[in-house]
Amino acid sequence: MEFEILTLFPEIITPYIQASIMQRAIINKIIKITLHNLRDWAVDKHHTTDDTPFGGGGGMVMKPEPIFSAVEDLQKETDPSPIVLMTPQGRQLDHTAALELSNVKRMIILCGRYEGVDERVRKHLVTHEISIGDYVLSGGELPALVLMEAITRLLPGALGDPNGAADDSFAGGLLEYPHFTRPAVFRDWGVPDILTSGNHKAVNRWRKKQAWLRTLAKRPDLVEVIQLNAVDIEVLKEIDQEGEMILPEKIKIIIRGER
Ligand code: ADE
Repeated sequence: MEFEILTLFPEIITPYIQASIMQRAIINKIIKITLHNLRDWAVDKHHTTDDTPFGGGGGMVMKPEPIFSAVEDLQKETDPSPIVLMTPQGRQLDHTAALELSNVKRMIILCGRYEGVDERVRKHLVTHEISIGDYVLSGGELPALVLMEAITRLLPGALGDPNGAADDSFAGGLLEYPHFTRPAVFRDWGVPDILTSGNHKAVNRWRKKQAWLRTLAKRPDLVEVIQLNAVDIEVLKEIDQEGEMILPEKIKIIIRGER
């Protein structure tokens, strides 16, 4: 996967890449990241990339010409790549969006600054708009890093543990189960016995149940879209019988149908 990043501040992006999982993915040729300074496509002698908004008001707007020129140069002699604008107005990034974008061979990521980009960029150049949440940051550089890392983690071979991404929260639709490491007892707080039992089947079942309990408690909205398999139904019946957690109606109907 190739990432071409268009930014006015490449120096913000470089150090994080070098210290992150992306660096290893670059070395292992799983991804390639090229940073481009938009200023290199500004034509006037001051290399201007922004200007005041028509109609007045505060703030500056990124000019269309350097952005169009940069993208057109990057698209020369290649199949057209998605052009992703990082903006709080975009589709909110989640596991599904990252998975979809992880299937492309190459993408151009445009990092906005100031009040945003000239609307003609959004309308006539950009193919995808992505937000990392309902808050406004000073630029698209951090969001671009978030997007690239989320995608990189999903690419085969990028994580040391081949199942790492599959177990992550959201990957199976549920939040991840709780983790414990040594010491087995810390300040009188022990580790659940099952985790030290050596019984892998029982451990997996316990983890599945914990993932369900967590998701039901913290993110019941996620439960709405999950496909249940036989193990899910088994642990959900158990949770239902224990009576400590109220299951959503939709789930009750499914597990009752199985009874
Ligand atoms: N640029 C500024 N804020 C942003 C956000 N929340 N997501 C994506 N890009 C942004």
